[in-house]
Amino acid sequence: MKNFRLYIPTDIHFGNDRLDELPEILAEYGKKVLLTYGGGSIKRTGLYDKISDLLDEAGFEVTELSGIAPNPKIDSVRKGVALIRENDIEVILAVGGGSVIDASKVIAGGVYYEGDPWDLVLDNKKMGQAIPIVDVLTLAATGTEMNRNAVISNPETNEKLGTSGWNLIPKASFLDPVNTFSVPKNQTAAGSADILSHLFEQYFNRTKGTDVQDNIAEGLMKAVIKNCPVALENPEDYNARANLMWSSTLALNGIPGNGRSGGWTCHPIEHELSAYYDITHGVGLAILTPRWMKFCVDTDPTTHEKFATYARNVWDVQEKDNEKAAHIGIEKTYHYFKKTTSVPMTLPEVGIADTKLVHEMSEHAVKNGHLGIAPFVPLEVSDVEKIINECFTDMTEF
Ligand code: NZQ
Ligand code: ZN
Repeated sequence: MKNFRLYIPTDIHFGNDRLDELPEILAEYGKKVLLTYGGGSIKRTGLYDKISDLLDEAGFEVTELSGIAPNPKIDSVRKGVALIRENDIEVILAVGGGSVIDASKVIAGGVYYEGDPWDLVLDNKKMGQAIPIVDVLTLAATGTEMNRNAVISNPETNEKLGTSGWNLIPKASFLDPVNTFSVPKNQTAAGSADILSHLFEQYFNRTKGTDVQDNIAEGLMKAVIKNCPVALENPEDYNARANLMWSSTLALNGIPGNGRSGGWTCHPIEHELSAYYDITHGVGLAILTPRWMKFCVDTDPTTHEKFATYARNVWDVQEKDNEKAAHIGIEKTYHYFKKTTSVPMTLPEVGIADTKLVHEMSEHAVKNGHLGIAPFVPLEVSDVEKIINECFTDMTEF
């Protein structure tokens, strides 16, 4: 196991009916609040009214930034920074999914930066101070509610990039599973695929002696695999939503990943798909994951043991031969996404009809994601092209 620093000071308020605690928490940071949210789901569910009433009663001065889109765009960040400066905002209250919270993080850092906030996405070393963020999470997926990362898109340059900063970690996160009852089936499935992918990216790793991290990751994978179909069947199953929400938070707050070295693979490739085609992040990951797994197993026999362990511990595969077990695990992963959770599993199904941008996206993925050196199996541009090209048709061999 490698050395690591784990710093996650977020004050988690988990469970139903805890919003009454919000005014007191917010007041620690100030009375002038920027309320950020997305395209209107919080108005439809009544959450907006509930929060507005609470803040009103407690005498907060609220400015709003609405319309933060999925794959949040840098323009929303620029608008948020301007609103904070115009209204002397002291704290951001982000209410929504990963997109709203990520945009809010870069807004929070952007306030302390003289230039264009896109610079902070291109170079996280420029990220310094930030104004405090409190969030009310409405979708289980990204883990942004308890980490220092944010992912922002720039449609003018076809870029979608991650940035980070220690001051971007939310001060408090309100995690009420009931707020996710209204998440539609496709977003529930995509969010679950995202959680699983976060775990895969950290689990498929060559650092030795990480039994703690491996066991935590396998346990979280099993919790997601079990509870996603329950939530799809009954969107108001509290415990299914609670398990998905808590898995989302734990999968990317450092606990399953710290202590290992090595980079991620499917995320940098998916970020190119959503940068160019604005597809749903979790869907892109579900499509890429089994093709990437197969590429690893087919090209690098040193991966067989880890993929076989995954197959046995997560999918109860009994096969003794490592290579065969690895292939069975990949097949189970693919069919879980396709049949159990009904995620679209080819690129044409999400509107990517031809291969004309595959080379360009692959070049960017290798460059931005350091795929040539960092991951479990290092990839060249031609390898990434092969993986993406496999995503145009259904998988029939595993
Ligand atoms: O905009 P509204 O109207 O709120 O609707 C949203 C949006 O259309 C809707 N939604 C959210 N909560 C809902 C709901 N609809 C009904 N009821 C609710 N309770 O769902 C749609 C998707 O929302 P979004 O916030 O985009 O989803 P998600 O949480 O999956 O966030 C995805 C973004 O996070 C980034 C992704 O790349 C993507 O940009 N990521 C951030 C990470 C991080 N900060 O650590 C890591 C991840 O790997 C990921 O890259
Ligand atoms: Zn993700």
